[in-house]
Amino acid sequence: FVPKSSGNAGAGTVAKDALGNNIKKKEYLDSHLAGSRELVQGLRGDATYLIVTDDKSDLEYFALNAVCTHLGCVVPWNKAENKFKCPCHGSQYSPTGAVVRGPAPLPLALEHVEFDEADNVLLKSWKEEDFRTGEAPWWNF
Ligand code: FES
Repeated sequence: FVPKSSGNAGAGTVAKDALGNNIKKKEYLDSHLAGSRELVQGLRGDATYLIVTDDKSDLEYFALNAVCTHLGCVVPWNKAENKFKCPCHGSQYSPTGAVVRGPAPLPLALEHVEFDEADNVLLKSWKEEDFRTGEAPWWNF
């Protein structure tokens, strides 16, 4: 017998805003610009970037955990430079979270983005190949 609460591979976690409210897909798309990368609470409560597609029609199928893979600072998105830039030691990541400049050793962790019947944005564990590196995920959540 495996209790339902053990693991999140099935249902996923509803993404929440800073006030703890569920994030709804349509409302989110109506209030965000194409290409926007903004923080929500994702898996484990970690700061996580939701990404609006460049044609503004949808959310990207992946979200990015915002925790720097160097020493754990939250990495801000720099829209003008089109990259994530860590304020702590200068690491930089591409718009999809690949490492552009160290000392970060690894890309930002991925989370799957899905939706439930109530239009909530669901985040789920990403256990498949990392499309940026072609390797297995380095993370385990
Ligand atoms: Fe981000 Fe060191 S924690 S570069």
